[in-house]
Amino acid sequence: MWTRIFGGIAAVLIPTVLAAQTHPIIFDTDFILPPGDDGLALLLALQSPEIEILGVTTVAGNESMERATTDALWVLEHTGRTEIPVYRGADMPWVHEKSEFAERRYGKWFSNEPPAPPPGGFAEKHAESEGAVEFIVSTVMARPGEVTIVAIGPLTNIATAIRQDAAFAGSVRELVIMGGAVALLPDGAGNMTPNAEFNFWVDPEAARVTLRSGIPILLSPLNVSRKTSLTKDWYEKMIEVETPITKLLETTMGPRFAREPERVFLMYDQVAVGSLIDPTLVTTEELYVDVDANHGISYGTSVGGREIWPGAEGAKKMRVQHDIDWPRFMEMFVERMQAPAAAPNSRQD
Ligand code: RIB
Ligand code: CA
Repeated sequence: MWTRIFGGIAAVLIPTVLAAQTHPIIFDTDFILPPGDDGLALLLALQSPEIEILGVTTVAGNESMERATTDALWVLEHTGRTEIPVYRGADMPWVHEKSEFAERRYGKWFSNEPPAPPPGGFAEKHAESEGAVEFIVSTVMARPGEVTIVAIGPLTNIATAIRQDAAFAGSVRELVIMGGAVALLPDGAGNMTPNAEFNFWVDPEAARVTLRSGIPILLSPLNVSRKTSLTKDWYEKMIEVETPITKLLETTMGPRFAREPERVFLMYDQVAVGSLIDPTLVTTEELYVDVDANHGISYGTSVGGREIWPGAEGAKKMRVQHDIDWPRFMEMFVERMQAPAAAPNSRQD
């Protein structure tokens, strides 16, 4: 009898415990194909049972929003995950205008060029007709306190969602952001201007609104990205096993490493996803972080402090990553890339 009762309790509890380990996420991205970081971050999320991707939302950043969309569709099609919907988001930042500096330095967020076809041609899968912001708001509001957003591009979509619905910020479970650089901590220089990181610099006004929104934030800034390095040796390790995922890696990364065998890529967005899968991989410190949206020499710079300072009165505290257990992260990353491709809809069974 006790076996029957405990068996019954276990039958009820075990699915609950397993479900509690899964993060339902919205994957908000200025997508680029591997070896680009957004592409590898999506593969990591797709291959991780701890994560259920509810939808991919695109934003202008590394490339135009249209290019981000076509490339994300291509990866989902080539990994057999066409059940995951893709939504077009903002094609320009709120205020920031294209400049000669932006054109010369890095990124194609302002580009009007039609997207170039990915290897082998465009995906047959199409983006949804609903827009990214509508999807983000309705998905979060349908499950208050449950949905995590992983935002690894400029924060234009997220800030627009915050502005659109006053109850939205209070309903997000957690927002994991790749963005910013914190001078207070080691390795805190910018990568776009001396102090500003790319994602925050592209849309500083949106970054400021997002960081001040009160959503619980886990920030993955350049400080932690700079503790990473993706080399040809790591790539070769990943493709030792032949699976649909490693074949995709060969198609997208192989030509790049053939051209530039000494190239070392930082893993920005992959760390944001990895830290959601296993929070023990990263070291964090709680800091107030704010963004300078004044159109001066610090436009788009993030500033972190242990207490509030004049001008940052509305800043919120968040967990800021600054170190990573790199060997353990890569062990997990390679293992996920080599695992058989996750089955479509497997987590909704
Ligand atoms: O600064 C690094 C960030 O800018 C990464 O998210 C990269 O993909 C680009 O969006
Ligand atoms: Ca990105």
